[in-house]
Amino acid sequence: DDDDSTGEEYLFKVVIIGDSAVGKSNLLSRYARNEFNPNSKATIGVEFQTQSLYIDRKEVKAQIWDTAGQERFRAVTSAYYRGAVGALLVYDISRRTTFESIGRWLDELNTHCDTTVSRMLVGNKCDLENIRDVSVEEGKSLAESEGLFFMETSALDSTNVKDAFEVVIKEIY
Ligand code: GTP
Ligand code: MG
Repeated sequence: DDDDSTGEEYLFKVVIIGDSAVGKSNLLSRYARNEFNPNSKATIGVEFQTQSLYIDRKEVKAQIWDTAGQERFRAVTSAYYRGAVGALLVYDISRRTTFESIGRWLDELNTHCDTTVSRMLVGNKCDLENIRDVSVEEGKSLAESEGLFFMETSALDSTNVKDAFEVVIKEIY
């Protein structure tokens, strides 16, 4: 709409990164459209959604970018990270290898963005408690040592999805 009565506008770019199939695209679709797809296909290239929220009664727009976890489907890396002020680093609590990859995703983020980027470590699929492969403590401890926020989420049952995005966006603001 064209209601711009505050005369101020904020547009923040947030990127989602992590191995293939950790649930990046479903976290975004849950947050932006309240949708979950149990049969989602691997992302090819880059997609983004813009989500508005209000902080201190000011409208803030978050442009949230989602790319392929699979190297062969990824777009130009430097363009993906350009201008980002927030990042969600996602692993799957039921697959330890995806947690072990976080160090590499952090290196890539650090290569392309400066350290002021607001970062959240996200342990997704916390609904899969019965096949958990990474403990909450391990997630917390990695986050503490790297100076990241930390949350476990579920795109399936919506646990903490809104909070994970909004803590990052509010920290930027
Ligand atoms: P790439 O695009 O290949 O990088 O994968 P992605 O990280 O975007 O994963 P995607 O969102 O496509 O999800 C992969 C699979 O995990 C799909 O079958 C989803 O339905 C499932 N999934 C995503 N989030 C959750 C969750 O929170 N819980 C459970 N149980 N399954 C999930
Ligand atoms: Mg995807």
